[in-house]
Amino acid sequence: MNEKMLPPIAIELTKSPKARPPADKLGFGKYYTDHMFIMDYDTDRGWHEPRIVPYQPITLDPSAKVFHYGQTVFEGLKAYPTADGRILLFRPRKNAERLNRSNERLSMPTLDEEIVLEGLKQLVKIDRDWIPNEPGTSLYIRPFVIATESALGVAPSREYKFMIILSPVGMYYAGGMKPISIFVESKYVRAVEGGVGTAKTAGNYAASLKAQEEAARLGCDQVLWLDGVQRKYVEEVGSMNVFFRIGDKVVTPALNGSFLAGVTRDSVIQMLRHWEVPLEERAITIDEIVQAYREGRLTEIFGTGTAAVISPVGELCWHGERMKVGNGSAGELSARIYDTLTGIQTGKLEDPFDWTI
Ligand code: COI
Repeated sequence: MNEKMLPPIAIELTKSPKARPPADKLGFGKYYTDHMFIMDYDTDRGWHEPRIVPYQPITLDPSAKVFHYGQTVFEGLKAYPTADGRILLFRPRKNAERLNRSNERLSMPTLDEEIVLEGLKQLVKIDRDWIPNEPGTSLYIRPFVIATESALGVAPSREYKFMIILSPVGMYYAGGMKPISIFVESKYVRAVEGGVGTAKTAGNYAASLKAQEEAARLGCDQVLWLDGVQRKYVEEVGSMNVFFRIGDKVVTPALNGSFLAGVTRDSVIQMLRHWEVPLEERAITIDEIVQAYREGRLTEIFGTGTAAVISPVGELCWHGERMKVGNGSAGELSARIYDTLTGIQTGKLEDPFDWTI
């Protein structure tokens, strides 16, 4: 139980509830529920006036700092319904903590993590009828902070909004667990150590779009990012962390200060350790991956993230060569991790890690 007195959250319910979208048309982030959470910040009052209101557009001054200098951070997590009528959130405290790390990196005010959790729990409860329960679906929760001060001087904004919106979603990739093909990117980089790669901030995603477009023109679904200095070490796949199964072990890049510490990444690491699968968190070069492929030791690659959960990779495109990994469907370990993780998330499997609340 939380000892602190949290400010009460004012609630205004919608008078015109929307029709629910059909479960087979959900896609990812196309529909939004009936309500949203908002809280404001200014330097005099700090964070104040937490409220849940009908989902609606917001009005900002064209000079609001978020539009010009990109002070904005976000999070993503999911809620799942259980067969016995409960709603489970997956490790939401990790997201609240990371939101604050992102806030700090972007010189934005941190939030009381208890109010973030309370706001999202109340919002999810109010819109609980929107949570889909078909396999592969969930309610995606998107908390975010934007700088709203109207001023063009380059300095931290003195005003912000923290908001949470909810979106019923299906699989992130239309192909579901069908392995994706990835282009190893050696021209563009996403982030560098000392930059903002470890923060979940809009600019990192904007910086990734060009490479993704060019990869798509070459027939690839996503990009494998290499480090920004030497273009030698593997960092991430698309907006996900990446794991390789090489011989009898699993290898994933160690957190090096240039990419995000994923909650799913951490969960997969804990799960593999629990299963006693040999796991190495360390720097991995693209040359090592190519060599393992040539020697027939590279048996699986998968990305991990909240949106896709586990995304198997079936092909690497590198220097004009298309290297097939696996047999065209999710590898044995990727499938086992996906089934276990989603089983825990939906309450179908026991949660030995105490991840769900
Ligand atoms: C995730 O994997 O959850 C992401 O970060 C992608 C998201 C921006 C849609």
